[in-house]
Amino acid sequence: MKWSFEEVTSENEPNFRSVVAWAYSGEPPDDEPAPSFVGLGKRYVGLIDGEGAAVCQVFDFSATRGEADFSLGGIGLVGVHPNHRRSGVGQRMMREVLQICADEGKVMAGLYAFRDPFYRKMQFATCGWVWEITCPVDRMPETGSALPVHQASDSDWPQIAALHERWVRQRSLGVHRTPALWDRRRKQSSPGRYVFGNPAEGYAFVKHGGFWGTIQVGEFVYTTKAAYDTGIALFRSLAINNNEVVWLEPSDSPFLSRHWDYGQSAKREKGSMMRVLDVAGALRSLKPDPDIQAELVISVVDPLFESAKGPWHIKAGGGCVEVKRTNGDPGLTMSIETFTQGFCGDPSWRTLARNGDLQASDTQIKMLEGIAPGMTVLHTEPY
Ligand SMILES: CC(C)(COP(=O)(O)OP(=O)(O)OC[C@H]1O[C@@H](n2cnc3c(N)ncnc32)[C@H](O)[C@@H]1OP(=O)(O)O)[C@@H](O)C(=O)NCCC(=O)NCCS
Repeated sequence: MKWSFEEVTSENEPNFRSVVAWAYSGEPPDDEPAPSFVGLGKRYVGLIDGEGAAVCQVFDFSATRGEADFSLGGIGLVGVHPNHRRSGVGQRMMREVLQICADEGKVMAGLYAFRDPFYRKMQFATCGWVWEITCPVDRMPETGSALPVHQASDSDWPQIAALHERWVRQRSLGVHRTPALWDRRRKQSSPGRYVFGNPAEGYAFVKHGGFWGTIQVGEFVYTTKAAYDTGIALFRSLAINNNEVVWLEPSDSPFLSRHWDYGQSAKREKGSMMRVLDVAGALRSLKPDPDIQAELVISVVDPLFESAKGPWHIKAGGGCVEVKRTNGDPGLTMSIETFTQGFCGDPSWRTLARNGDLQASDTQIKMLEGIAPGMTVLHTEPY
């Protein structure tokens, strides 16, 4: 059996499409070429004896951690042809694609797992989720509409993009949308695009439900309480002839803390998994509070990337983090999964220690919290 793993080209594109069709629909491919991926990232196909066996695609993202940015490979469309299932092909492809991402200098890989245990085999760790809130019309709170509402026109897109930037900056693992990503998002969003405030403080893309259906909110971004209240008031007014409203909120949901009521439901949705590929690069990308002074030595156990081990001498001060390889005794050793979760911010270092995933002294936890404090993870870019 001869295995090769290649970037998709015009020659192997039929193999790519065939695996996607068989893996996802159990049908042969149609004659349509795969939708363009230009400007978004790269597509790959794994071949066994020249036949398509496995596929995936990797988006080139720049992601946030508060004020810090780092490169993230968003892995999607993972699929193995039914003829080759359960023989290790999927895991082999994932290891290869992680190596490619690391060689390209990506600091982190991320994905939305069909089931988390499969990706835990490759040291992905569960980091972050959003609430899917379903609220019957008669349980929608009366928030009042503090801001004017208007339908987005072409001239509104720059301020919508600016709001999205603020939204992802306030959290961890938000994706900066490039023009290509905005183009894609715009095509995917429903025509009901509402802007709150002038200048804008929030926006929502809404799919109206017709009579006695569901109002589906595709994206709800609020940078002030007034924008949040205005959005909820709009959804309530649109729902007058509907049964319910469904929308997503980050795990720091205002709805759950302000408006929770009997009859509503909140489901953990769109859980993301992350995996740090470059420990030193991840730490160097951070921008801690300039007043923070912290210093410690850590070692990271990573079965796939021996180079993660260090030990790393980490020193934070003046808003930067210096990281050097050292021969010194690692005061603290942790798995790559724990490092990934603490780095992303949810669960925080203190939660990880409390739950027994991190054996660290109180002083070490305070140092780690200074460098990378706990943060709400919001990774929702569709891919
Ligand atoms: C998910 C998928 C890519 C896995 O590919 P694969 O080549 O069969 O994976 P591998 O053989 O490398 O590993 C499969 C692992 O999952 C486990 N597994 C298989 N079927 C399972 C099931 N029904 N429930 C739980 N675990 C299962 C196996 O035990 C195996 O683990 P092990 O090697 O430790 O025993 C493939 O099933 C697929 O294409 N599914 C359809 C598309 C899809 O869901 N993609 C994921 C998008 S995020």
